[in-house]
Amino acid sequence: MRTDPALLEVELSGLRRGFVRPDGAPVQVLDGLDLVIAPGEFHAILGYSGCGKTTLLRLIAGLDRPDGGRVTFRPAPPGGAWPRLGMVFQEHLLLPWASVAENLRLALRRFRLSRPEEDRRIAAVLALVGLDDCARLRPGQLSGGMAQRVALARALMREPELLLMDEPLGALDALTRRQMQDEIARLRGRVAPTTVLVTHDFAEAVRLADRVSVLAGGRIAASVLVRSPPGGPPLGPDVAGRIEALVLESLARATRGAAPPPARTLSEQIGEPER
Ligand SMILES: Nc1ncnc2c1ncn2[C@@H]1O[C@H](COP(=O)(O)OP(=O)(O)OP(=O)(O)O)[C@@H](O)[C@H]1O
Ligand SMILES: [Mg+2]
Repeated sequence: MRTDPALLEVELSGLRRGFVRPDGAPVQVLDGLDLVIAPGEFHAILGYSGCGKTTLLRLIAGLDRPDGGRVTFRPAPPGGAWPRLGMVFQEHLLLPWASVAENLRLALRRFRLSRPEEDRRIAAVLALVGLDDCARLRPGQLSGGMAQRVALARALMREPELLLMDEPLGALDALTRRQMQDEIARLRGRVAPTTVLVTHDFAEAVRLADRVSVLAGGRIAASVLVRSPPGGPPLGPDVAGRIEALVLESLARATRGAAPPPARTLSEQIGEPER
């Protein structure tokens, strides 16, 4: 895998996106959202169901356009193009009739690589997710956790500058989910593009992310540093408990319609924890 990308910063400024429900009622999902995702950061977005997490991820991916505001990447990809993306969803979305290897090969279709180069990349990502022996299996022959690992491998095939994951572990049982969190954390030691993870699982966000942001009321209600430097241990022994209290308070404020406090770092909000 590539190890020296110019890591990407993502700046979201004033993002607005609304929809009209089938009954004609308008719904303003994102309402002037500002957020900076630092280069190489693993950034978790946490929020209640329906708060707009997938809407936000689709805007970052360029799959949808905002009604207002903008998504800016630094360094800017040449020619105004979108950065190279890897995406993982709640469902693995593998083609059932194709082998694992052929599913992964499909991700490279537009790249026009030689067959040996494709084979090399397929073998490399399968080794990375610990599925060396599974290239010839079909999705129906995989467990749920294995299938999600293939989905993760597929997202890494293009050596993404930006990895976007929307509830990637949401369909798994609790034990497998925990195991996959460890897997993602381990993988992070080897491949670490700027990453956005959407989840509603508080513990998962804190376990994996360098920073956790809370989406509520169409904006970022709190943005909390969990690890610094990225990939390091959590800031202090009880950081999870203290962040949880802060996040719940932010959600409660947003639900009451109170203005969110300005997004600040954990150390500014609740004191730099003892190391
Ligand atoms: N294309 C669309 N047309 C109409 N309404 C939409 C559209 N996409 C999203 N919405 C509405 O926007 C709101 C936010 O949806 P979104 O899928 O972003 O939520 P979410 O936070 O990802 O929820 P979940 O955790 O359940 O996945 C919902 O009320 C949804 O019905
Ligand atoms: Mg969603």
